[in-house]
Amino acid sequence: AAAAAASHGAEDAPHSHERGPGQDHWSYKDRPEWASRYPDCGGAVQSPINVDTARAGFSPQLRPIQLSGYSLPSKERLKLKNNGHTVVLELPESLAITGGYAQQYRAVQLHLHWGSPAEPGSEHTVDDRRFPAEIHVVHYNTKYDNFEAAMVHPDGLAVLGAFLQVGPRENPYYRQILEHLYEIQGEGEEVFVPGFNVAGLLPANLNLYFRYNGSLTTPPCYQTVTWTVFNQTVQLSQDQISVLVTALRGDDDSPLQNNFRELQKLHGRHVLASFQTTLTSVKQMPPGGGSSSEAGAEKHSSSFQAGDVLAVLFGVLFAVTALAFLLYIHKHRSQTARLDSPTKSKVIYTAATTEENTA
Ligand SMILES: *[C@@H]1O[C@H](CO)[C@@H](O)[C@H](O)[C@H]1NC(C)=O
Ligand SMILES: *[C@@H]1O[C@H](CO)[C@@H](O)[C@H](O)[C@H]1NC(C)=O
Ligand SMILES: [Zn+2]
Repeated sequence: AAAAAASHGAEDAPHSHERGPGQDHWSYKDRPEWASRYPDCGGAVQSPINVDTARAGFSPQLRPIQLSGYSLPSKERLKLKNNGHTVVLELPESLAITGGYAQQYRAVQLHLHWGSPAEPGSEHTVDDRRFPAEIHVVHYNTKYDNFEAAMVHPDGLAVLGAFLQVGPRENPYYRQILEHLYEIQGEGEEVFVPGFNVAGLLPANLNLYFRYNGSLTTPPCYQTVTWTVFNQTVQLSQDQISVLVTALRGDDDSPLQNNFRELQKLHGRHVLASFQTTLTSVKQMPPGGGSSSEAGAEKHSSSFQAGDVLAVLFGVLFAVTALAFLLYIHKHRSQTARLDSPTKSKVIYTAATTEENTA
């Protein structure tokens, strides 16, 4: 969530100036008071939430997320800003979500949420597990003129969220942002950074995700966000996570840390999944890779389990069939033996056939 620059808003609010003195002076410290100034923050469709994977309903209609225009040439310059709540990278409108949502959405900005050197700070949790950090890429529905117009409509916004974890290697995409944080340590400072492939900040696998209806996670908490939370995580080196967590200062010149909102109640909402969560077992991701697929890794083990079940099933089926066949052979043999016996004549057989035909 975290606020963004005024013009382009954020998944959060337009910043101070439009609202008069003090009006936009929210902070993570006075979260309990958000609702008194921003009524939506006390609503029933708020974010973030805990995703309970066992209760997430599989929805085959949730097609893979498709992005277009995310790969930016380095000659393009993007504004990177410390707004006192987070670091925001403003995005050109050429970036868009073209698949995985019923409508088209254009990107506005992305930003991050993190904890402290001691504690993880993702906003969403999965099965009560909090990750070191979380990225949000904020988009608005192209049927509205701009972000500000869209953010007040129920179908106005789409946010792509992904979890950041510690991996063995430096992540070259996050480097494009992190190496500039020292230039914007103070609140309100900004710098222009060269374009890069912004899709690299998201997981490699955009097919596996959770979907639910929620809100901006910072004031004014508008309940207009259709959330995508990816099941695959993104890996950064330990050093990179440390830089993210320690580089910036917030409003009162103290370290900008723990900029995540507490979990919100579901109030009967359902979380959908683009994949079958219950077939996969809980398993730690393997080390390595710029990003890792927990579910991907689990898929192997789960198809293994499914394979085992099938093997047993077919084994039993085979045994039953074999037994039935043996019984049949046995019966047929004794019948043949009876027919072949010298005491039985062809007459009996013919008579039987006649009876059959008249029956
Ligand atoms: C979100 O809300 C819309 C409108 O009420 C509804 O059609 C849709 O099914 C909801 N999505 C989810 C994931 O619950
Ligand atoms: C991904 O999905 C699997 C299967 O439901 C779950 O065990 C795992 O915790 C999920 N991870 C994330 C980051 O969503
Ligand atoms: Zn956010």
